[in-house]
Amino acid sequence: MLPALSAAAQRVTGTKTVLKNAAGRVRGLEGLDDMSTVLAGAAPDDPVAVPMNGARYMADLTAGQKTGIYYDQRPNHAFAARLAQGARVLDVFAHVGGFSLAALANGADAALAVDGSAAALDLAQRGAAKTGVADRFASRMGDAFDIMAALADEGARFDVVICDPPAFAPSRKAQEAGLRAYERVARLAAALVAEGGFLGLCSCSHAADLAAFRSASTRGIGRARRCGEIIHTGFAGPDHPLHPHLAETGYLKALFFRL
Ligand SMILES: C[S@@+](CC[C@H](N)C(=O)[O-])C[C@H]1O[C@@H](n2cnc3c(N)ncnc32)[C@H](O)[C@@H]1O
Repeated sequence: MLPALSAAAQRVTGTKTVLKNAAGRVRGLEGLDDMSTVLAGAAPDDPVAVPMNGARYMADLTAGQKTGIYYDQRPNHAFAARLAQGARVLDVFAHVGGFSLAALANGADAALAVDGSAAALDLAQRGAAKTGVADRFASRMGDAFDIMAALADEGARFDVVICDPPAFAPSRKAQEAGLRAYERVARLAAALVAEGGFLGLCSCSHAADLAAFRSASTRGIGRARRCGEIIHTGFAGPDHPLHPHLAETGYLKALFFRL
């Protein structure tokens, strides 16, 4: 179907370049190849600037994670940005600055992006410059669990903290360990939220359903001796439709708490 799909994508969007991205755990299980190729036009040599929610993100289309940016989080970036006006924002597992750049573009005072990938943070820094917010953007590279613990030791507090880790429960077998990791993220992050501030916790694991993820998150918040209410539950945007017979397609959840 690829030639037909590529032609349709060009006709509908007017794009000249179509890339096939074959990275993804499940392709092998479905008997699909892992060959990423250029279906039309020429692959760009450099990351491209993508406008989204008022920010400009630098997306590495060929060597980056996913398709270069996390489009599926677009409505959740927008919701967090509405909470972040005048706020100090901590964006943990930031990749190219999904939450932090949207927050800064919509009036946040300052944002700190944390990620283990130097390449992703470099693109986040370049995205901050393209968005015109580099003076309010900072990053720390390293393990997010260690950095959150270090920030707590430093007495750092933020008005909005968002954590969007990789899939900790990618399969049913990994569910228990994954939920423990989500609980740990919630505990470490809750300790960094200022009184009356907001905490956004995301999971892209289909094996941890919404109820289980919500329990793990509230347990973690409780273990940090904080309490909160859920003000919003977000999902993937409507360009990531859910197939009613494929639970895997309903993978993304974002819980927003006021603590
Ligand atoms: C789901 S992506 C984040 C997407 C991003 N929040 C956005 O909205 O664009 C997860 C990110 O976590 C990073 N990561 C994975 N394990 C990590 C760890 N232990 N410490 C810090 N970053 C980590 C990956 O490099 C990746 O960028």
